[in-house]
Amino acid sequence: MREPLWVTEVGPRDGLQNQPLQVPLEGKLELIDALVAAGVRAIEVTSFVSPKAVPQMADADALFPRLPLPDALRYSALAPNLRGLDRALAAGVREVAVVLSATETMNRRNINMSLEQARRASIDVIAGAAALGVRTRAYVAVAFSCPFEGPVARARVVELAGQMFDSGADQVVIADTIGAASPREVRDLLGDCVAAFGAERLAAHFHDTRGFALANAWAALEAGLRRFDSSIGGLGGCPFAPGAAGNLATEDLVVLAEQCGFDTGISVRGLRAAVQVAERLTQRPLGGRTTAWLRTTPAF
Ligand code: COA
Ligand code: ZN
Repeated sequence: MREPLWVTEVGPRDGLQNQPLQVPLEGKLELIDALVAAGVRAIEVTSFVSPKAVPQMADADALFPRLPLPDALRYSALAPNLRGLDRALAAGVREVAVVLSATETMNRRNINMSLEQARRASIDVIAGAAALGVRTRAYVAVAFSCPFEGPVARARVVELAGQMFDSGADQVVIADTIGAASPREVRDLLGDCVAAFGAERLAAHFHDTRGFALANAWAALEAGLRRFDSSIGGLGGCPFAPGAAGNLATEDLVVLAEQCGFDTGISVRGLRAAVQVAERLTQRPLGGRTTAWLRTTPAF
């Protein structure tokens, strides 16, 4: 039997939050339907943040109750503060994500909090969710390099990840928010994290700013990780992190994983259909590095 590899699709959140075009609620549901049809089983669908800060996610309360097959799939949503958690719970969210950036400046730019405030807010959200049996993912963002402060010390990331686990987080996601990591840095940082926490509760989140996302995913695989975030068509970026380009494309990750003997349970053909939906909704060409090859390779 092939070893499973778990994909969390983040396009509807990390991808659409950054689009100049506001994708309407019906369009988001169409994209999510296409992802589900392709076999995707975990999706970060939205964020419960200030609609002034991220207008693209202002429909989170209306979106969540309309998601398909809520009992069979894992839908998560970002909630950076208790206000966000309250909204998420009211909408029926069963898995929330918090974002703790590894540097002072990135926390201020992203969520208008100091690192200490962000740490406390994350702990409050995790504890509040866990008390109700709601699962939690904690992102440690800009884990390799910060667009404002530069390289981040590995020990700091391990410390922050440990604090998130100590407060009850089910999963910590090590995120290369701006796509600045190299495979060697991934191997080293994730090696430290695996040594400290085990691979089972860790996930990796890469951006493809310099074409390194797949190489970084492979380095994470070799470090023992089996849980990855990715985004359909490579859609993505962070409005508050200069230089952040699209995410690791889900179709690239799935092609790599399947060709290397892992089982994602996801159909590449189905993903290609979902890329077309994403292209229509965002009115821009999308697709990972495998796109041109996939067009001429019927096996996938
Ligand atoms: N949902 C909706 N509105 C919220 C909210 C939430 N979770 N948290 C705060 N607000 C509202 C407040 O009610 C207030 O509204 P008002 O201006 O109409 O009175 C406004 O947002 C400011 O509230 P305040 O508590 O002063 O927060 P802030 O201005 O310091 O902003 C965040 C903090 C976290 C809400 C804001 O920075 C944010 O939403 N950032 C987006 C983070 C993000 O999604 N980043 C990309 C992904 S990593
Ligand atoms: Zn991201």
